[in-house]
Amino acid sequence: MGELRVRMIDLHRMTQAHADSIFIRACTGLATERPPVWFMRQAGRSLPEYRAIRGTGTILRAIADPDLATKITLQPVQRYGTDAAILYSDIMTPVHAIGFGVDIAPGIGPVVEHPFRSRADLQRLRPLDAEADTPYVVETVRNLVSELSVPLIAFAGAPFTVASYLLEGKPSRTYVKTKALMHTDEALWFDLMDSLADLAIDSLRSQISNGAAAAQLFDSWAGALSPSDYEKFVLPSSTKVMAAVAELGVPRIHFGVNTAELLGLMASAGAEVVGVDWRTPLDAARTRVPESVGLQGNLDPALPAAGWGPTEPAVRDVLARGKGNPGGRGGHIFNLGHGVLPETNPEVLERVIELIHSTTP
Ligand code: CP3
Repeated sequence: MGELRVRMIDLHRMTQAHADSIFIRACTGLATERPPVWFMRQAGRSLPEYRAIRGTGTILRAIADPDLATKITLQPVQRYGTDAAILYSDIMTPVHAIGFGVDIAPGIGPVVEHPFRSRADLQRLRPLDAEADTPYVVETVRNLVSELSVPLIAFAGAPFTVASYLLEGKPSRTYVKTKALMHTDEALWFDLMDSLADLAIDSLRSQISNGAAAAQLFDSWAGALSPSDYEKFVLPSSTKVMAAVAELGVPRIHFGVNTAELLGLMASAGAEVVGVDWRTPLDAARTRVPESVGLQGNLDPALPAAGWGPTEPAVRDVLARGKGNPGGRGGHIFNLGHGVLPETNPEVLERVIELIHSTTP
């Protein structure tokens, strides 16, 4: 029933070319002749052509240059022939754009000058007016939609993962400040989650209304939580984002790392597809989500970085375990279990694509 609903929405709202693409078909649970494939972080430091045009400013500066961001997004599609493109931006772009005081430090990741500490800091999280606050993202999306022959994936950071940066002030292993807030001031925690859900919604709505054909919510660090904490403190806000995106009629992917115990809960937020990291075999993941939910993943990104030798058997294993349910529902989108590592030789990923393209059902 859910499956049917998504199909109908697709046909009404999406250009026919995108609705018919192998990527969108797999997202909506339709049978495909082979799994579609794209790679998280496919645009970026592993590509020599990226390093050649990237320049020296911070990544936020590159994102703010639509011509550059457009070229960077297109590079992996041109080199690999991936079945989807993902916008070159960052999960911190919206909070940066509304002036929260976020920067991205080379080699470190997102850093926040004045981390979120108290109720007064909620005022620093006003809604995003995408056209006014991130006109460069809007322009990049429009450029891409007119140039791409494959669907563009919109994305946003999930409230929990973005909150973890705002609270910790930098990447963290323990999430002590984040967990302290959720367990000591629930009211403030939920207000923060709600503001960040609205930011994600505003950002995704703008990307989709300008032509992106699918949406991925990155809750990269959700795996730091127990299932009960995830369910109580995180699931409601991510569900709110997913519900808002459902109204826009594009398929939704819900991704996190280290989420073996959370996959069922993440599926319950409403996505058509759940991303799986390499720690959970796809056939095991299948048993943890409803039949109609598709899976995305899950080659260990360290393997392509190690060379084709270790990669080839692992790709075959992912393909075998990713095959749909006997009933044919719940598709598979081939991806890595997390992003491409910068030290990866792109030629290995070219061979991964070749192997998947030669797959027969
Ligand atoms: O090759 C590259 O990684 C180059 C560019 C780059 C991005 N973000 C692009 C990006 C860099 C250096 C960053 C900084 C950044 N932002 C880091 C440090 C990464 C590092 O290795 O130095 C981190 C951890 C962030 C925060 C962030 N951004 C997260 C948690 C995510 C979600 C995906 C994930 O890796 O878990 C992003 C999204 C992101 N950053 C994308 C891009 C192009 C979009 C998603 C994608 O391409 O798959």
